Amino acid sequence: MTMDIRTLRNDFPLLKNNTRAYLDSAATSQKPECVISAEAKFYEMSNANPMRGLYPLSVKATDTYEDARRCVASFIGAEADEIVFTRNATESINLVAYSYGLSFVKEGDGIAVSIAEHHSNMLPWRMVAKRTGAEVSYIFCNEDGSFDDAALSEIKEGTKLVAFTHVSNVIGRVNPIEKIIKKAHDIGAVVLIDASQSIPHMGVNVKETDADFVVFSGHKMLGPMGIGVLYAKKHLLDKMPPFLSGGEMIETVKLDSVRYAKAPHKFEAGTVNAAGAAGLAEAIRYMKGIGYDAIQKRDEELTRRAMEGLAGIGHVHITGSKDPDEHNGIISFTIDDIHPHDVAEILSADGIDVRAGHHCAQPLLDHLKVKNTTRASIMFYNTEEEIDRFVNGVSTLRKRMGFS
Ligand code: ALA
Repeated sequence: MTMDIRTLRNDFPLLKNNTRAYLDSAATSQKPECVISAEAKFYEMSNANPMRGLYPLSVKATDTYEDARRCVASFIGAEADEIVFTRNATESINLVAYSYGLSFVKEGDGIAVSIAEHHSNMLPWRMVAKRTGAEVSYIFCNEDGSFDDAALSEIKEGTKLVAFTHVSNVIGRVNPIEKIIKKAHDIGAVVLIDASQSIPHMGVNVKETDADFVVFSGHKMLGPMGIGVLYAKKHLLDKMPPFLSGGEMIETVKLDSVRYAKAPHKFEAGTVNAAGAAGLAEAIRYMKGIGYDAIQKRDEELTRRAMEGLAGIGHVHITGSKDPDEHNGIISFTIDDIHPHDVAEILSADGIDVRAGHHCAQPLLDHLKVKNTTRASIMFYNTEEEIDRFVNGVSTLRKRMGFS
């Protein structure tokens, strides 16, 4: 499908009359009207507490929520009972860390974590190591963000869990997760893949990759904030203890015993975010309507345009690979002599929205010997004109700051 961007942008209330260039979709994507309406429609037409009542409205609320679970499952090639709804990817990772990690990782075990992780996929594993006596080791990337076989040798006998991002939120590179998963499985380790930055741009099939855990947030893939996903293989969910306790995650409670509900409900304590789930399902339907082929083609074209533009500007350094095809819409860069926060502020004054800082990935930036960066992140709904405006803004920035 070829995208008519002008028509498509009309689907997004915040884009259709926006004169600013929104280049911060890796932080959160914009939402189409159908997603916003799906959330509102839940409250207007289906609002009752899901799974609580036997009356029609509660049944409708339950159906909406469980339909959303089936929609997410089929989108990533999973079974519905392998999908746990959470608030976001961070909560999904913490669920696995507190539940699986504290129960099944033991003193002396190894946890291998890539250096390219967002803090969300690093700090929970450090917590597990601290509490269990396991040891975290890091898998380091090359300057271009690639992981070679020597680096992956950190996945070795004694490693019980591997945590890896599919696509880094700083450098945008796709990591070889199939190879990593195979290597981990060969030594009996389980693997958690953070797909937060990949799933907005490319298909993720959990059965094909054979990942044990896959996490992502709804809000980065056109869905609402406050709804996230944990996929886990059924046999793992079955043996994992609950993360949070309370209502709806039990079958029976006596004063001296409790029998928990089956997964996934065992992990969804309290009233669930059914409206958010409905919004996420609508986001998935919207993305399917466009198709990943068209999304990726557009990502590639816009990323290439931006990177080729930046490449021609002196004193600008792109973090990670120089190849636009290795960036998937994420371009972090520095400009000599100018702090990234100043870059972001000046671009903001130009009407261009980018993020600056360490992007919650300080160990990666330390490893790459970059303190902070400015990051432009692109989604299929961006226009060529926005990219050109961004490149132009960057090209004149040093001069505007008084440098030659
Ligand atoms: N994790 C989000 C980002 O990278 C917030 O910007």
